[in-house]
Amino acid sequence: MADMEAQGPSMDIIKELSISDTDSDYAEDMRFDKLEVPATDPREPAAERFEGVLAACKAMKLQPGQSILAFAKQMIEEHTLDDTFYVIDLGLLARLHAHFVAAMPRVTPFYAVKCMPDRAMMATLAGLGTGFDCASPAEIDAVLSLGVPPERIIYAHPVKSPTQIRYAAARSVALTTADSPGEMAKLARWHPTAKVLLRIRADDASALCCLGSKYGADPGPAATAALSAAAALGVNIVGVSFHVGSASRNPQAFEVAIRLARGIFDMGASLGLRSMHILDIGGGFTAQVDAACDSVMGIGGVPSVVNAALATHFPLGCGYDIIAEPGRYFAEAVGTLLCTVNGKREQQTAHGRRTDYWLSDGLYGSFNGILYDHLEPCPIALPISSIPKSYEAAEIGAVASLFGPTCDGADVICRDVSNLPDLDVGDFVAFPKMGAYSWAGACNFNGFEAIWVKFFYVTT
Ligand SMILES: Cc1ncc(COP(=O)(O)O)c(C=O)c1O
Repeated sequence: MADMEAQGPSMDIIKELSISDTDSDYAEDMRFDKLEVPATDPREPAAERFEGVLAACKAMKLQPGQSILAFAKQMIEEHTLDDTFYVIDLGLLARLHAHFVAAMPRVTPFYAVKCMPDRAMMATLAGLGTGFDCASPAEIDAVLSLGVPPERIIYAHPVKSPTQIRYAAARSVALTTADSPGEMAKLARWHPTAKVLLRIRADDASALCCLGSKYGADPGPAATAALSAAAALGVNIVGVSFHVGSASRNPQAFEVAIRLARGIFDMGASLGLRSMHILDIGGGFTAQVDAACDSVMGIGGVPSVVNAALATHFPLGCGYDIIAEPGRYFAEAVGTLLCTVNGKREQQTAHGRRTDYWLSDGLYGSFNGILYDHLEPCPIALPISSIPKSYEAAEIGAVASLFGPTCDGADVICRDVSNLPDLDVGDFVAFPKMGAYSWAGACNFNGFEAIWVKFFYVTT
């Protein structure tokens, strides 16, 4: 006993203390691993299903004029929050969905779960009638557990292990993608009733993240080889998919890709593949929203290009089904990340005053997009009024660096930030538009567990 006391309290006791000291029940329930959003009933009207999701995740209705940051500050002060959390705006998510289907009426979105596998977001989209793009058995299970039928899932990973293929078959998930003779052979063996889209390569060279160097058959001999193998093996090829690259910047890339896909449909017909009727235009869309992340302004000029290319190459009324796999479009602006200041160091250098801040999240957590997604975080200070300050919080402070919490010297969020006031331990820094490829890629390095992050839901 004496020894134990000398070593200090165990990790469990520390966790218990930090929760009971700082959190109300409401805030504690918002921890990711505690949130329970039940399956929704597909027979219920969309509006009622949305209300059900809002109730299940205890979403708060923001007052007109109440910003996400004002709400975040209210939560921090009411619940004495002292760690990383997200605010997820499900109202904006619903508006993004409405905008997408109005802008491209022929295209049914299948949300790319990998982007932000948040249950409330997925339940909201399920209620609105989207399908889901899953990359793994775990994502398939997450979607099925919401009551989504397997027909509304595309297992859009072109290279799967035999075990993963069998898993999809056992759960009646038939629609999938493949891009080579080898993958066709695996599907023929392990999932004979699969409905397969040939994934072709059709890159936007200016996209933020290129996928084509890894996936997609070149629409020449490689595509012919994959389709010929499928025909010989009796694989049911039902269409074509592509992904121009994430955060595509050139809308014309969709025109080129849709034209190339048309060529593959024709090639398939010449090989006797008679069931090709699905065109999957992938992801790559980015939502343009106003400064408050409230109104949806557009999809970067993509819809007019897509609509025109579809009209030319896949005319309405000819029996084609068009789907897409947007991830970033739905998730990015919906999620605002809040990190608290855990440490501060002030220095006087030859170039003036500098301050280093250690935040509660970093490169190994929600900011992994700095490594994987070309993320350039945009911090906004959220000074907390209960913290005594000897200066005006609105004044711009010293040039600052923001560090993550791990002991790794590379765990840096941003350097030379010159828009922040002087902050203190306990203040918060907000990062808008952090819903995409953020928490989804967090790991537990240094023992900072991603599941401890809290998610607060609002509707605007
Ligand atoms: C197969 C597939 N579909 C969809 C997506 C989502 O793309 P985005 O977030 O650009 O919409 C990705 C992203 O990597 C992907 O690999």
